[in-house]
Amino acid sequence: MTAITILGSGRVASSLATGFAKAGHKIVIGVRDIAATGQWTGPEVQFGSHAEAIGLSEIVINATPGDGSIERLTALADALAGKLLIDVANATGRDERGAPSGLLYPTDSLAERLQAALPRTRVVKTLNTMLAPVMSNPSMLNGAPTVYLSGNDLDAKSVVRSLLHALGWRNAQMLDLGGITTARGVEAVMLLVTDVMKASGFAPFAVSTVR
Ligand SMILES: NC(=O)c1ccc[n+]([C@@H]2O[C@H](COP(=O)([O-])OP(=O)(O)OC[C@H]3O[C@@H](n4cnc5c(N)ncnc54)[C@H](OP(=O)(O)O)[C@@H]3O)[C@@H](O)[C@H]2O)c1
Repeated sequence: MTAITILGSGRVASSLATGFAKAGHKIVIGVRDIAATGQWTGPEVQFGSHAEAIGLSEIVINATPGDGSIERLTALADALAGKLLIDVANATGRDERGAPSGLLYPTDSLAERLQAALPRTRVVKTLNTMLAPVMSNPSMLNGAPTVYLSGNDLDAKSVVRSLLHALGWRNAQMLDLGGITTARGVEAVMLLVTDVMKASGFAPFAVSTVR
């Protein structure tokens, strides 16, 4: 059993916590306000502040909004030192209705900026190219989806691969794109994701490589 910390308690956190809990992992959720966790619909987890939650695991998943992630996580740099940070966030601005708009970092990526801001932390970008339910249940789609990985540290990516296995992903579905700069492509895909949802609704899907 591995302890996994997820920052944020929204749709992604709930999906991932459900998948990891089924696989026998212990889940710690980092929240802004412990008194407001009554809405949690996921499995049994331990709640704490972001700093407390990070202190309880070697693996931390950023499932908070992409805008503000750099400031939030940089403020926790000491707590994150030596840890593996899995970034699933999409860094887009918001339109007047709060819906995702253009990329916040169009010439690089959130993941690269996180890795630069957190040199003592190994950052891996993954899972951001699909809707939350698919993350922990890849077999729910008609075809086999792809999950992309970007990160500089091979050992860290190997740990992430084993976590993806626990969620039901097969090796053949995992595509290691290379170093953290390859997060540019998978983050830019958010523009397509937003348009796909506008055109065809919120039914779960994943951006995938099909040959
Ligand atoms: N939903 C998807 O299908 C999907 C797919 C791919 C990637 N993503 C990315 O994954 C991340 C989470 O998405 P989500 O759909 O789970 O979002 P969500 O349902 O809005 O949940 C985000 C959670 O982050 C926390 N949060 C919100 N604002 C915050 C702030 N200013 N500072 C710190 N924490 C804050 C909240 O938890 P607390 O109130 O408990 O702190 C909230 O429940 C986002 O970056 C999103 O772009 C989402």
